[in-house]
Amino acid sequence: MDVLFVASEMAPFSKTGGLGDVAGALPKALAARGDRVIAVSPRYSVVPEATDSGLTASIWLYGRLHRCRLFVLDRDGVRWVLVDNACYHREGIYGDSTGAYDDNLFRYALLCRVAIEVAETLPALDGKRLERPVFHANDWHTGLLPVYLAATYKQEGRLHGSRVVLGLHNLGHQGTARRAAFEGLGLPRAAWPLVDMHGHLNPLKAGIVASDAMVAVSPTYSRQIQVDQGFGLEGVLRERNDRLIGIVNGIGPEWDPATDTHLPATYTADDLTGKAACKAELQRSLGLPVRDVPVFGMVSRLDHQKGVDLVEAIAPWLLSNDVQLVMLGSGSERYERFFRQSERRWPRQARGYVGFSEPLAHLVEAGSDVFLMPSRFEPCGLNQLYSMRYGAVPVVHATGGLADTVTTASPGRDDATGWAFRPHSVEAFQAAVGYALLTLTRYPEAFARIRENGMRSDWSWDRSAARYQAVYRAVQG
Ligand code: ADP
Ligand code: GLC
Repeated sequence: MDVLFVASEMAPFSKTGGLGDVAGALPKALAARGDRVIAVSPRYSVVPEATDSGLTASIWLYGRLHRCRLFVLDRDGVRWVLVDNACYHREGIYGDSTGAYDDNLFRYALLCRVAIEVAETLPALDGKRLERPVFHANDWHTGLLPVYLAATYKQEGRLHGSRVVLGLHNLGHQGTARRAAFEGLGLPRAAWPLVDMHGHLNPLKAGIVASDAMVAVSPTYSRQIQVDQGFGLEGVLRERNDRLIGIVNGIGPEWDPATDTHLPATYTADDLTGKAACKAELQRSLGLPVRDVPVFGMVSRLDHQKGVDLVEAIAPWLLSNDVQLVMLGSGSERYERFFRQSERRWPRQARGYVGFSEPLAHLVEAGSDVFLMPSRFEPCGLNQLYSMRYGAVPVVHATGGLADTVTTASPGRDDATGWAFRPHSVEAFQAAVGYALLTLTRYPEAFARIRENGMRSDWSWDRSAARYQAVYRAVQG
């Protein structure tokens, strides 16, 4: 298959969360299985290895011609294309401390248009153009892609054999804008009903109704968004549910404790010696007492979605035990304040590191015994997969991808990989964390078994990539 993958963030070039990880890993996994893949994302900052191809795409949007240069990097069997335009050169990816950028609709409409042009003009790694490509769009940012394709390009007889698969990573962000913003998009009037959601322009809704198939990032999430987690799009999704399936994400090669270059020592399920060294380094680097004590970790965008309020609620109880709590995150001011206060209140036990740090994220996974992920909703979640692989046993809310990937411990089970609690309440969370702590301190063999099960679980991208290929084949007919 020929695949043109397009996303608003793509690790390692850009990343704010899991979408970046997926967009950096899935194209590689598809290429390894034999697809010809071009992956397109904005060039937010200089990527030294990517070279200027000399090719440009000029797109008319909002009354002006926008010239974009295409930077190219051929690596891991994928042609990575970084779209360069002044609108992407900013402090943040989607916004800054004052909020989201006002012109995001324009910035990502531009990305959609350029991605379509790339499919037509830029050859793949083997020097040949893509044939009847499947566009793999992701989330609201690229929701308009199938609309452009159907309402303009295909009308002109271009790319008529192409299809669009839309990845649904988070229904909580839809890119909604005022109706007036439709004017400058260069779409025909007849396309308005596709993008219209109660009188507003909604790019995610447009993607849902105009794509050929949709893939939510876990089976449970694919059902939940049709019932009560669609942020208003439940009905639209139900109408197209014959086109919707769920496929869980995988773990990229950079998340492997046996080879991780961010760690002071590597380790495997057979030999955990290196993990103890990672714990000591985590404690030392954050100024905590270096001791053999249970360490609870968390790495998260500080968003309402992530349920940090539950961690805040149980912290006094949790830290009344002889344990340490290490949190890494950035986002909402309210939770950043909790992070800072926790350091003042429990200076020898708690650290709340405010910021975005890839090396520290790896060290927290490696240095923790238990990983906390009490998300209100979680489409898939990557951190619980990473934590299982790193031997940090996850305690998660049983929702979305967390429910699909963590096997909860209960008496008589020997395949558990963590603790999944429900409902989403302080009591249920505290009980689950309590079980984890009790098992770790009183029943170390049982805990070791759970840890080992998680470390040995197979969450490789290869398996999920095979499922994506089946979807591509289905839409190509
Ligand atoms: P989401 O995409 O909703 O944020 P995921 O669990 O799918 O949740 O993915 C989160 C990704 O972002 C992981 O790779 C995680 O390590 C990373 N991440 C989140 N917050 C930070 C942070 N403050 N510093 C470094 N990495 C972070
Ligand atoms: C979103 C979701 C997260 C998912 C990620 C990658 O950011 O919040 O659950 O893992 O996308 O699919």
